Amino acid sequence: MCGIMGYAGDKEAADIIIDGLENLEYRGYDSAGLAVNDNGDIKTAKTVGSPSGLRPTASGIKGRVGIGHTRWATHGAASLENAHPHASVSGMFSVVHNGIIENYEELRSGLEAQGVVFRSETDTEVIAHLLEKHYKGDLKGAVREVLPLLSGSYALGILCEDYPDVIVCAKLSSPLFAGTVGECGYLASDVSVLSGRCTRIYRLNDGEIGFLKAGSFKVFDSDGCRLRKTEIKIRSLSMDADRAGYRHYMLKEIYEQPAAVRRTLAGIISGEHRIKPGFLKMSDREIKGINKVRFVACGSAYHVGLVGAYVTERLFKRSSEACIASEFRYMHPCMDESTLVVIISQSGETADTLAAMRLAQSEGVKVVSIVNVESSTIAMESDKLIMTRADREIAVATTKAYSAQLAAVYALVIYLAERSGELDKREAARLLRGLMEIPDKQERILSSGFDYSSVTDRLISSGYVCFIGRGLDYCSALEASLKLKEVSYIRCEAYAAGELKHGTISLVDKNSLIIALGCCSGLRAKTLANVKETQARGAGVIYITGGDDDDAYENVIRIPRCEDIFYPLLEIIPMQLSAYHTALKLGREIDKPRNLAKSVTVE
Ligand code: G6P
Repeated sequence: MCGIMGYAGDKEAADIIIDGLENLEYRGYDSAGLAVNDNGDIKTAKTVGSPSGLRPTASGIKGRVGIGHTRWATHGAASLENAHPHASVSGMFSVVHNGIIENYEELRSGLEAQGVVFRSETDTEVIAHLLEKHYKGDLKGAVREVLPLLSGSYALGILCEDYPDVIVCAKLSSPLFAGTVGECGYLASDVSVLSGRCTRIYRLNDGEIGFLKAGSFKVFDSDGCRLRKTEIKIRSLSMDADRAGYRHYMLKEIYEQPAAVRRTLAGIISGEHRIKPGFLKMSDREIKGINKVRFVACGSAYHVGLVGAYVTERLFKRSSEACIASEFRYMHPCMDESTLVVIISQSGETADTLAAMRLAQSEGVKVVSIVNVESSTIAMESDKLIMTRADREIAVATTKAYSAQLAAVYALVIYLAERSGELDKREAARLLRGLMEIPDKQERILSSGFDYSSVTDRLISSGYVCFIGRGLDYCSALEASLKLKEVSYIRCEAYAAGELKHGTISLVDKNSLIIALGCCSGLRAKTLANVKETQARGAGVIYITGGDDDDAYENVIRIPRCEDIFYPLLEIIPMQLSAYHTALKLGREIDKPRNLAKSVTVE
């Protein structure tokens, strides 16, 4: 979603802010803007599109304290008027905001009734006007009065002309960090932007109000009392944001999957193919008492949850399901002390996933989180945490974080199955060995030199594209379809192969392309029977298999054999590469597809 960057120091702010916004661009790239307080005169620059578009106008803006924003449009189109920062009527206040003010219509009507003329369609603008209305010369007082009027979520950076050396910041359910180094203070919605720039980094908590100045950061609670903040340590975040010769981050990250899986597993499994002592710290009694496992996540992480549910049923022998976090949080889910909720999130900031986790925690349910960003809200609020070690993922469409999540889920389920006695130790060790062999097999796929051009041609020329599979192949089909639509914008869907006959087959004709994932050995013959039904109606077929029974197909992608349950870690790679090469051929913005954001911090 949107990104915030602020600077208060001894250097010109505009360039520093634009550099930071460029680092944050993956979060939102519809429009961008900045405001700099030049000794009591706030000057603003805005652009539609990338933050780099700010450079020409911002070069004339002088001042050492400023705020910037990269926007992912929610309220109002991507336009200069709707780009942040938003100013109050007199220009006394300038505000950048991540999140959604849910009661903004009511606040806006109230302000309009008092004669305020709005310049944008955003929910954010109400904040600037409210600050001006409540301001009587005391900045902290005005902020303390306005924050309780806002409902929804926010991370805010605020400038006030009367306080030329200060950025005020506050948050509710949306991340915000401040950092200092020497005589400089930085503000950012994403800690990765601060980790290379600051020696001390602080996480602002809900309800706190921060005052950032050159080299100092003071924080107050909602009653205005000074708080003593402890700095946070950033360990796992690699700042390697270099494409390393790859044309796109997505391609680089696809190739980084073996390393991401190896690192993740190395944190969990010992050289003897045993889960390391101390993993999750759950007693055998606690594990045996689990009756139901619910995997809760969004997007690709939800597809990981689906794999988790299938594998849980098979190995841990407990009833299990994957839930979309935005559904789970409002479905009044039945949970009790025998339920285990597994939260999966790359960013650790996805608003719905975070809310789902808090809901489960509030009901006293056991929660395990699988997260890639150690300093994220989900990681910080989790009692039982499994870190994926995919390192920083830049491309919006996830690839290596997805694989790392899968690896963590497999390790978790094998651990639960062994500790509960459902899986004997030798079988658990055999499976863990098989899991640890997966990165080598991923490398074989990546280095196979397979030519994707005929696949991409078929994808581009087909009128209807459908991915099918059964069981775990179906989970991969869902992820394959999501990947293709995210980066190529080709309309496609995924179906459980056996379900095709129940309606969707009516779409199949000679212009259709069926991509059949048939890796899981027990189900391959059944999937192939469904493929035949589509061929009988003229459809073209691309077949992905771990077997040898496939000579009848024109386009076959073979992947190395592995334990059936681990195929999702292999079969997704040719699907990711097909999506990538198709998007490349279509000239899409591969790393930053239209309308998408890497981290979805609003619900
Ligand atoms: C966005 C991203 C997806 C990701 C999903 C969940 O939609 O574009 O790649 O799977 O959010 O994100 P999370 O950070 O919670 O894994």
